[in-house]
Amino acid sequence: MIWTNDPTRLMLVAGFGLSYALVCLAPYLRTRRKRIAAQRARAEAAASPGWIIAYASQTGNAEELAAQTQATLKLAGIPAQLSELSELGAEDLQNAERVLFLVSTYGEGDAPDAAAAFAGRLMTRQLPLPQLHYAVLALGDSAYTHYCGFGRALDQWLQEQGGQSLFPRIEVNRSAAEAIAQWRQQLSHVAGTSDAPDWSAPAFDNWRLVERVQLNPGSAGAPVYHLELAPQDGAPADWQSGDLVQVAAPADPSRPREYSIASIPADGRVHLLVRLHGHDDGSHGVASGWLTRQARIGQTIQLRLRPHRRFRLEDNARRPLILIGNGSGIAGLRGHLKARALAGQGRNWLLFGERNAAYDYHYGAELDAWQQAGLLDLELAWSRDGAGARYVQDLLPQRAEKLCAWIEEGAAIYVCGSLDGMAAGVNLALEATLGAETLASLIAEHRYQRDVY
Ligand SMILES: Cc1cc2nc3c(=O)[nH]c(=O)nc-3n(C[C@H](O)[C@H](O)[C@H](O)COP(=O)(O)OP(=O)(O)OC[C@H]3O[C@@H](n4cnc5c(N)ncnc54)[C@H](O)[C@@H]3O)c2cc1C
Ligand SMILES: Cc1cc2nc3c(=O)[nH]c(=O)nc-3n(C[C@H](O)[C@H](O)[C@H](O)COP(=O)(O)O)c2cc1C
Repeated sequence: MIWTNDPTRLMLVAGFGLSYALVCLAPYLRTRRKRIAAQRARAEAAASPGWIIAYASQTGNAEELAAQTQATLKLAGIPAQLSELSELGAEDLQNAERVLFLVSTYGEGDAPDAAAAFAGRLMTRQLPLPQLHYAVLALGDSAYTHYCGFGRALDQWLQEQGGQSLFPRIEVNRSAAEAIAQWRQQLSHVAGTSDAPDWSAPAFDNWRLVERVQLNPGSAGAPVYHLELAPQDGAPADWQSGDLVQVAAPADPSRPREYSIASIPADGRVHLLVRLHGHDDGSHGVASGWLTRQARIGQTIQLRLRPHRRFRLEDNARRPLILIGNGSGIAGLRGHLKARALAGQGRNWLLFGERNAAYDYHYGAELDAWQQAGLLDLELAWSRDGAGARYVQDLLPQRAEKLCAWIEEGAAIYVCGSLDGMAAGVNLALEATLGAETLASLIAEHRYQRDVY
């Protein structure tokens, strides 16, 4: 062939060939480079000494998100240890390279109960953490003065100890989906994966309202109703005493409200005790108004069962129980008493407070029957009857000896009802009687459990 002898032509052809090959290869090389970098990032992340996902949760939101966080990391090939915040010691934090904190806020800007030990033990001291890379997802509700108070305090303390944030703290106001999506995106980024699936919003089931009775006609307080709901598709529902439900009211379905379950699966129905919430302008609360006034018997209610690990009996099922509550708080305690009666467990001491014995003794006949059957020590405080102790917290100092004896015997304490009006006072009374140290160890041993709101 003639042109093969021409060196200029040969070089031109070779040059074209090379450029063509480079043009064709470039995208392949780019993709390959990216793939290798991603593989390396994943391998490094997986080989790094431990990712930890630490959660602090009262009613389970932060805990659920922590489990989803762990699942997302797992998909990216990164094993991570899931741990309650208080289970972490100074050494764990000092050895860890990456910790993701998912924490909610309770009380007035405080840590959830189970995280109080961490806050007291570690966040009050200096703990150099220069190697730590961390991120904080802070859950809260902007209606409270100290919005995301605990998440903010934790973030600040970690910074002060030299920890380096992987990305700025993300705050979730009332479980807002946008903030959760932002956390998921940041997570995918630091995990070096782009294929993290969307976290689906929790699914609500159809339940039928089958019964509703006002328990306190004539009461000086707001009306309180006993409600019974059955699963619409008839499938047996699964929960344990102490669990919660979320109800999505049609007028505000994206912001469900929590209610304590007052029954056990053997009842076949979810029982709720709902107090109608009133506003200053005379209007009713969205969810309590829907459940107690607008929804008709037979109507469908959007409901979701939620495990409430910090209020279940679990290991405490074998212990004597001291149950303390007021008002609608009898709901969560009734669930436990039903479970105890079914199991033939007789060591139960209930301290309950409301306004007037004549109108506000919710589930009184049932409580009296358990007392007569020897399943219940019962003590009552009526704040408007003008005799005896006014509030449950006033009963405690009067029964100090019995309280100490039961605790000595290994009893667990369950508190359910209002945070401000009752639980704060009960906490003070317990501390005064048992001592702060004993109370702290009861919390650490999960023997002081609260469902308060
Ligand atoms: C763990 C827990 C258990 C509870 N158990 C019971 C019970 O057994 N019986 C009972 O009667 N009540 C219970 N409550 C209270 C209940 O959840 C409602 O707050 C109450 O019924 C008033 O709600 P509403 O919609 O009727 O009133 P609204 O006035 O419409 O709402 C009440 C308040 O909740 C705020 N809020 C709005 N959206 C949300 C949201 N998504 N999450 C949280 N707060 C929001 C509003 O700012 C408003 O101040 C419980 C609360 C908690 C946290
Ligand atoms: C009794 C009570 C007190 C609360 N106090 C605060 C608070 O002080 N600041 C705040 O931002 N959120 C507060 N919240 C809102 C919770 O932090 C928020 O509902 C969060 O999603 C709960 O998450 P958890 O289920 O993981 O505990 C409070 C909620 C309740 C029921």
